[in-house]
Amino acid sequence: MLKNFAHISRRYALKTITVSDGDLSYAASIATRFVDGRDLTATTYDSYEDLLKIYPEAEGNVERLKSLSVNVIHNVAVQNLSTDNRLAGEKFDCIINNFPHSGFVKGLSETVPEMIKRHQDLVISPFFKHAVKMLHPNGQIHITHKAAPPFSNWDIVKIAETHGLKLLSTTKFNPNRYPGYRPKCGAGHTPNKGFRVGKCVIYKFVLKKLKSKKIYKFVLNSHKSKKK
Ligand SMILES: C[S@@+](CC[C@H](N)C(=O)[O-])C[C@H]1O[C@@H](n2cnc3c(N)ncnc32)[C@H](O)[C@@H]1O
Repeated sequence: MLKNFAHISRRYALKTITVSDGDLSYAASIATRFVDGRDLTATTYDSYEDLLKIYPEAEGNVERLKSLSVNVIHNVAVQNLSTDNRLAGEKFDCIINNFPHSGFVKGLSETVPEMIKRHQDLVISPFFKHAVKMLHPNGQIHITHKAAPPFSNWDIVKIAETHGLKLLSTTKFNPNRYPGYRPKCGAGHTPNKGFRVGKCVIYKFVLKKLKSKKIYKFVLNSHKSKKK
């Protein structure tokens, strides 16, 4: 069993939400190994019916999550994250979005500025805009993203800064650390298709107004009392 979840000790209860999960294998992996299911909310953009049609493993992952007391919510778009009445008023210590992507457009390559802007406008900016409203003052927002062009041209750090966030650190993302997790394309003709993550990183953001080292320490300390 691994000791750390995204470099935050699992000894402390961390109220965590996953956003834009594909077949929910990531949420199932972290609920099994790193976070108490009662502290986890797992969300998908797809409806439950669509998930079952798209991903053969989704039903089993949902059952697994429910058996671990995870709050599983479907039809959650980043555009409505903080206003969704199923999440209203909730604050999280860790908000995770792995491989955000707004979907493929026929005839538009991932490399053209128009496509990059589409991803920025449809899934990156709205995600940060809503996630900051749901973030515990000492919490962290984690985005996992490919670190090579054209994905590294999305200006994720700059966009985060316009939403009152600052980069705390980056960590190499190794999917093998999350047994059972299967990264999914989630769009196009074969949404169940996996993809090779290649060189990618977890960008970890905190609110700009506080000093990052203090925040990080405080995140750990503030949860000692919540230990279950
Ligand atoms: C590249 S896939 C990554 C899926 C999953 N996070 C993973 O790591 O396997 C991008 C995901 O973003 C979701 N998505 C697309 N548009 C979205 C939106 N507006 N709000 C929330 N999620 C969205 C898709 O349903 C898809 O599951």
